[in-house]
Amino acid sequence: MTEKDFLPKHTEALPESGKVAWKAPSNIALVKYWGKKENQIPANPSISFTLDACATRTTLSFQKKETTSKFSFDLYLDGKPKADFKPKIEVFFDRIAEYVPFVKEYHFVIETSNSFPHSSGIASSASGMSALALCLMDLERHMQPNMDPSFFMRKASFLARLGSGSACRSLEGDLVVWGKHESIEGSSNLFGLKYPYKVHDNFKHYHDTILLVDKGEKQVSSTVGHNLMHGHPFAEERFKQAYHNLTSLQTILESGDLEEFVKVVESEALTLHAMMMSSNPYFILMKPNTLEIINKIWGFRKETGMPVCFTLDAGANVHVLYPESIKDSVIQFIQDELVAHCDNGHYICDRIGTGAKELIIPKK
Ligand code: DP6
Repeated sequence: MTEKDFLPKHTEALPESGKVAWKAPSNIALVKYWGKKENQIPANPSISFTLDACATRTTLSFQKKETTSKFSFDLYLDGKPKADFKPKIEVFFDRIAEYVPFVKEYHFVIETSNSFPHSSGIASSASGMSALALCLMDLERHMQPNMDPSFFMRKASFLARLGSGSACRSLEGDLVVWGKHESIEGSSNLFGLKYPYKVHDNFKHYHDTILLVDKGEKQVSSTVGHNLMHGHPFAEERFKQAYHNLTSLQTILESGDLEEFVKVVESEALTLHAMMMSSNPYFILMKPNTLEIINKIWGFRKETGMPVCFTLDAGANVHVLYPESIKDSVIQFIQDELVAHCDNGHYICDRIGTGAKELIIPKK
């Protein structure tokens, strides 16, 4: 598929007004996306677990307006106007207008809320952009009632990517690949693809306990970080490494080899941060407690032989990943040893999820 396949093909007239709502999950990458080309094209393919508990709910109300020269929308987070999110949505609308031109025909009210506290240091852009893209596709479906459900999801992922790259992996469960990889049929730089091969039972019901080390705002945004991969001395090698790590993960996902899984996932997390530390300008997003937790996880793994591992996204928080079979021991370990390193003892128990859901809007 190419970008052209996502241009509009409406058959019906635009509705005057209405309301749609979607809930979309967050995701955690196992092979990381870090570095991009123009138009939100990733420099390397990535793969993520779709989460369950961490999610965004968005209601989109739409009303036809007179002029179509500018975008017009109000944005609320947890019922309160959120002016500082508006520029990001404005950029998003600008990037997607070619594919969903009706965005200029409406005044929108976007009401959004996250299941996780907004001061948790957990990025809401993946679940937020995904939920909004799904709402917009719902509106497009009003005009094209025979739309194929798989095209609906694909175009929603395509649009979400233009809002935030990792958002295109936040629509379906339980594993999603984004970026062209020769051994994953159907993979594309343009949208996320539900991982199309058989996955070993070891990876079913995987857990992700998110340890909130630092709930403050990040000093360097992901978008700035991605841009620092242009001209980065290790960029090309890093992109090749991510590609090979995805090849390795494919074998691991099939065989259920948890020891190898741990190696690839932790190496990806540390390499992501190594790229940040070797950028120009360089920066560090980990905090002392991030390292304390990593060391304790390594100690616990050595002592018990249990395949618990960590990953990081672009921040100080630690995602502790482990299979269902060792859940009780790991939760005990987290409570006894790791919670002390969390900001106010806060952590979120999450697990692999099944993807986004349409929400029923109650009739008044
Ligand atoms: C470290 O998707 O937030 O979480 O496309 O600029 O919005 P933009 O970046 P974003 O980057 C996510 C980076 C990451 C790794 C990952 O999720 O693959």
